[in-house]
Amino acid sequence: MTTNPSEAGVLHPADAELFRLFSPEGQRDPFPSYARLRALAPVHVSEALGGAFVTGYDAACAVLSGEKFGTVGAEWFDKNQPGWRDSPLLVSVFSSLAGANSPDHTRLRRLVARAFNVRQIEQVRPYTAQLTEQALDAMAERAASGEAPDIPSQLALPVTMGTIARLVGVPPEDLGPFDTWIRKAGVVFEMSVPPEVLAEADAAYTHVLDYFTALVAERRKSPGDDLLSALIAVRDADGDRLGAQELVDLLAFVFGSGFETTAGLIGNTVVTLASHPDQMAALRSILSTSPDKLGPVIDELGRFDGSVQATRRMALEDVEVGGVTIPAGTATIVFLGGANRDPARFPDPDRLDLHRTDARPLNMGLGVHYCLGAALARLEMEEVLRRLYRRHPSLRLADTPVRTPGLQLYRYESIPVVLN
Ligand code: HEM
Repeated sequence: MTTNPSEAGVLHPADAELFRLFSPEGQRDPFPSYARLRALAPVHVSEALGGAFVTGYDAACAVLSGEKFGTVGAEWFDKNQPGWRDSPLLVSVFSSLAGANSPDHTRLRRLVARAFNVRQIEQVRPYTAQLTEQALDAMAERAASGEAPDIPSQLALPVTMGTIARLVGVPPEDLGPFDTWIRKAGVVFEMSVPPEVLAEADAAYTHVLDYFTALVAERRKSPGDDLLSALIAVRDADGDRLGAQELVDLLAFVFGSGFETTAGLIGNTVVTLASHPDQMAALRSILSTSPDKLGPVIDELGRFDGSVQATRRMALEDVEVGGVTIPAGTATIVFLGGANRDPARFPDPDRLDLHRTDARPLNMGLGVHYCLGAALARLEMEEVLRRLYRRHPSLRLADTPVRTPGLQLYRYESIPVVLN
């Protein structure tokens, strides 16, 4: 993919907007670019950037749930990134849920769903609540010492990482290096990764894969009450089960997808609410009258400032979306955050409205690859929202929060706050 405007000759206005969007500045606040792109072309096939780009809600739904689209997986890499099979990271991630298409994906997802079910997820709630209270205590201690507590490092990451670790079966004492490893591996979803960055990400992910290989061997000997043990034991009605490497790839992927995403949404939420005092008041009122009805609130927060702004598919054949033909083999980037602000779907889309009903945003995806961890993310958001804003109803920012560039994962690196 071309990333330098000067290589692209005379640019289509939508291409110029895309270059703006992909600049560090554009990635910090992509919403104005999404709006301009959507007005120019909700589906844009770009020769300059070598892909198709979708910002309209209906078109995004058509791509994500369309049978004529598959994942950007082995077939795309074979054509566009020869040598990818030497990368343990790419091979592991794209052999698993994110790269598989039907029937392989259907089989994997069915097996995982047997183990990763609502009962298993709900069991972790008291632990998530306990982690949240501990994190809030640590934040209060820091505030008492005169320093501003930080939302990502002191609340969002400890709660989400601790929760997914407990659920999967990773002991807390092993968690130390995982944040760094998974962050490095996060480049896996970029469209083009410089070889030296990929090499570093490969080294990091190899640690993750080795860790899970050893942990699976241990749990085979002595099973526990965790997802890992359940996945080892799981069989579907035909007696099919996960193979040894499949199991390791899956565990690493579920674990890797399971904390930065929700941690990002927690951080985005804190910043959003701090700049929308009326909605902060609306949340306080919902928490005091109907604390069990946070579903629509969490949907609206995810719609407004979701932590995953983009995903991608490949057109399996020439396919028409919104009157535009996307040629077979084209990588198609769906801007979930753009679709979530489409005025044709959401009245007054740039307004945060926690009383909005029927939001159904796309920040967790749609169709067969719909987020496997959606129920877990919701549980974590519920526990954090309830406990954080009950304890600190007028939480505000102590300083300007710092955003990490990136749209695949859209989050803040640091959010210093004043508790009360
Ligand atoms: C706010 C938090 C989260 C957001 C915004 C989010 C977002 C997404 C999105 C957009 C997709 C679909 C990608 C696509 O269609 O290409 C997805 C898939 C996935 N998510 Fe999440 N996610 C979150 C939390 C989690 C958690 C906590 C887990 C851990 C269990 C998780 C595990 C997964 C997995 C395994 C998939 C792949 C599913 C498949 O391909 O069948 N996610 N997520």
